[in-house]
Amino acid sequence: MYRTHNCGELRIEHVGQTTTLAGWVQRVRQFGGLTFVDMRDRYGLTQLVFNQQINPELSQQAANLGREFVIQAVGTVAERSNKNPNLATGDIEIKVDQLTVINASKTPPFLVENETDGGEELRMKYRYLDLRRPLVQQNFILRHRIAQETRRYLDGLGFLEIETPFLIKSTPEGARDFVVPSRMNAGQFYALPQSPQTFKQLLMVSGYDKYFQIVRCFRDEDLRGDRQPEFTQIDCEMAFVEREDILQTFEGLLKHIFSYVKNYDLGEVIRMSYDDAMRLYGSDKPDIRFEMQFTEITDLAQGKNFKVFDEAELVVGIVAKGAADYTRKQIDELTEWMKRPQIGAKGLVYARVGADGTVKSSVDKFYTEADLKEWATRMGATAGDLILIVSGGAEKARKQLSELRLEMGSRLGLRQADKFKALWVLDFPQLEWSEEDARWVACHHPFTRPKNAATLLTADPATLKAEAYDLVLNGNEIAGGSIRIHERELQAKMFELLGFSPEEAEQKFGFLLGAFEYGAPPHGGIAFGFDRLCALLGGADVIRDFIAFPKNNSGRDVMLDAPSAIDDKQMTELCIQLNLKK
Ligand code: AMO
Repeated sequence: MYRTHNCGELRIEHVGQTTTLAGWVQRVRQFGGLTFVDMRDRYGLTQLVFNQQINPELSQQAANLGREFVIQAVGTVAERSNKNPNLATGDIEIKVDQLTVINASKTPPFLVENETDGGEELRMKYRYLDLRRPLVQQNFILRHRIAQETRRYLDGLGFLEIETPFLIKSTPEGARDFVVPSRMNAGQFYALPQSPQTFKQLLMVSGYDKYFQIVRCFRDEDLRGDRQPEFTQIDCEMAFVEREDILQTFEGLLKHIFSYVKNYDLGEVIRMSYDDAMRLYGSDKPDIRFEMQFTEITDLAQGKNFKVFDEAELVVGIVAKGAADYTRKQIDELTEWMKRPQIGAKGLVYARVGADGTVKSSVDKFYTEADLKEWATRMGATAGDLILIVSGGAEKARKQLSELRLEMGSRLGLRQADKFKALWVLDFPQLEWSEEDARWVACHHPFTRPKNAATLLTADPATLKAEAYDLVLNGNEIAGGSIRIHERELQAKMFELLGFSPEEAEQKFGFLLGAFEYGAPPHGGIAFGFDRLCALLGGADVIRDFIAFPKNNSGRDVMLDAPSAIDDKQMTELCIQLNLKK
């Protein structure tokens, strides 16, 4: 038997027992005639002790151990004289009688401890060592727990977990496809699914009225901290449902996960229309852990000869509570921050509400004290508050102010990682104009049901609303879905609106249109970004640390050195010739 206990298990009540442990050497320390070895496995750390006077040979063997050696130790559990309250096993140590080196290790390229000296690139190259670090292991234990609780909740509601294929025909979700050449069908390609969208809809037609799958999706898009080229969704679909059924079922899932994995009561999941989210927060994924809503003051600010505001489509501001003591230097710095190309503001107007209620602004030349007081009243600013205002084109100004709001939220300590607030954003626009393609494209995807189906081809496309919803957690989109079109006619109309010719629609989506002719029930669904959910619950905003073997920002796996060229024989078999002129 390799071990009787694990390295996180032994306590004061085990004192006197004989134990056998197996694991990795974290550290070796010498202290007087004693040698201490910290031994690690995924359950914790246990201290081994060797006494030179009692067994010099064994002590020497211990002193020779290197970092990350795999060892087995047999000994007796003893109470420590010097206890470590920060360690679960800190009350005890093992007086070792027998030590076996199971496998030696080269010196690792970085410290395999919570605090490591390894840079990102090195850690990814030796990801198997990085994954040995206890903090990183916590992420995967959390991920496992979330997956298990998801299955338990959905199974409890009668959902069936059904797998769908990875080698498919392209499903448009707005990103590029990864493609796989087919050897048996020369010159033809499969696409990897951007999501199982059409398959889950077909499963509804087949009568599996509650489906889910924890499934890998593939999207060839620009990468960021919260995006990977392959990522995992909790993908769900239900038949014979309305939006309300979906919202309740899946906020139920989120609450269940929070309650059983984090012992956290998520509280009410509020609902907001897309239009309100944009008006009040300038974002379709507002962080509502804090208020700081937008107030529009265009009418108050214009007509006083301040050209910047007079020429603006929108003058809009926020109130940073208690921040009136921001120094000129701090505000200048904030203004520069807003002027960076990433945000692109032309400037920032501010007004301070003094302790005596007087309002002083950076544009006092143009506005009287009474004018400014009117602003403060509309915005709900009181003594000690700082008012921050941007102006310009409405969409741009809102976007810029949204960034400023998040920044101020962070600076004022209103965005703690251990506090969670979720909301539904509802009634998204159906379509958006793509400059690149010079046509209307679906905001969500082409299978989303429009709110007012009868006017689909007659209404101004810009005004169409969709039966689409997003679930937002702490300012991150963690799930998105919609009620679907289930009638052939309506789906064909939607394709027409999106600029597909009937032939093109038939060629790309004939299977779905066909299925809709054989008794398709009304249906709808949602997909959670599983990696994002894990990262947020783990208090992080980068999903890489929650994916065992992630890609870097150039889409590379630096450990495997992939993607890579394939040999000529494979190329020939696949009938592929490279043409690298770009
Ligand atoms: P959507 O495209 O909104 O919807 O994706 C659902 C959720 O998946 C997560 N996500 C990602 N996570 C990591 N890396 C990525 N590259 C990435 N892209 C998306 C987000 C997002 O909210 N088929 C529809 C769902 C439906 O209509 O039921 C879909 O895929 O958290």
